[in-house]
Amino acid sequence: MINSKITGTGSYLPEKILSNYDLEKMVDTNNDWIVERTGISERRIASPQENTTDLATHASLQAIEAAGLTPKDIDFIYFATTTPDRIMPNSASVLQAKIGAGKCGALDIYAACTGFLYGLSIADLMIKAGMYKNILIVGAEILSRFVDYSDRGTCILFGDGAGAVVLSASKDEISKVYGHKLRSDGELGELLTLPMGGSQHPVTQENFDNIGPYITMEGREIFKSATRTMAKCCDDVLKQTKVDPSEIDWLIPHQANLRIIESVAKKFGFPMEKVIVEIEKMGNNSSATIPICLDRSVRDGRVERGQNILLTAFGGGITSGSLLMRY
Ligand code: ACO
Repeated sequence: MINSKITGTGSYLPEKILSNYDLEKMVDTNNDWIVERTGISERRIASPQENTTDLATHASLQAIEAAGLTPKDIDFIYFATTTPDRIMPNSASVLQAKIGAGKCGALDIYAACTGFLYGLSIADLMIKAGMYKNILIVGAEILSRFVDYSDRGTCILFGDGAGAVVLSASKDEISKVYGHKLRSDGELGELLTLPMGGSQHPVTQENFDNIGPYITMEGREIFKSATRTMAKCCDDVLKQTKVDPSEIDWLIPHQANLRIIESVAKKFGFPMEKVIVEIEKMGNNSSATIPICLDRSVRDGRVERGQNILLTAFGGGITSGSLLMRY
């Protein structure tokens, strides 16, 4: 039986910090409100010279090195993003060239904040089917280029960043992916949109003036849907794998809002000491938050080999998912 295990992790945050106090000067908000309602103090902003695949390149090379591999050892690349450099070519192929991987398959995943978990779950199945040995899965975003900094409902939340893992074939019984559950509720799609630039609203001056190139969000409704769908996916994956919540060492949830994270943790009786939270200093990086959290907690020693880790996310779509692994 072939298992799959994470052999390397990496992450990258741009240097520039946008604090709540900076936002106070840009829009009608204040630090206390943002901290209390979201848990966010600051977020990172990519420099004008950086594109999404540049952030991904830093994270990917770190992950590949940590796995003890070279880019040529990578058999497939999944790139989760909602903010690609361009619509075409796909970001996975751009990344492939930038890191000097061989001519392996390279595919983008558009599932917003759940994109990384979609990629990791599919990669797990491809490895278990015996098709590939080492798959690179990246989540990277430059959301700051799609945020309206006069909209206090969205601009306080989002930041830029990238995280990556290498998932490798293994006969290891200690470290392995147990199972995953992916969902989508397309009927709720209008709650979170990036409406312009696709075929429905192509780039025209009229669409720019009337629709705008920015993220739209119904925050309160998303909040409710997020707690419900992440809890459902976690519940499903725990039942499917017959693992009791008390056996989970760490919960790594998508970092959208501290109150959403606390509510999911509470539902399963996880004390917050068992939850990886990095939102304060980076905000919501969409598909990048989970691999960034994983990388940071592996590197600082919180996450150790042999521990049970439950990952869970939700995002535009509305997509959601959970994955249970022994790291
Ligand atoms: N600063 C100050 N006041 C604000 C701000 C702000 N930035 N934003 C809203 N308010 C005000 C509102 O106008 C409202 O005032 P009123 O009562 O006088 O009308 C009051 O604060 C409460 O507004 P709510 O929208 O109810 O605030 P809520 O507690 O729901 O927090 C938030 C808003 C932070 C957006 C929250 O709903 C949330 O986090 N939702 C989920 C968003 C999310 O996860 N998005 C990403 C999902 S997927 C992805 O990651 C891409």
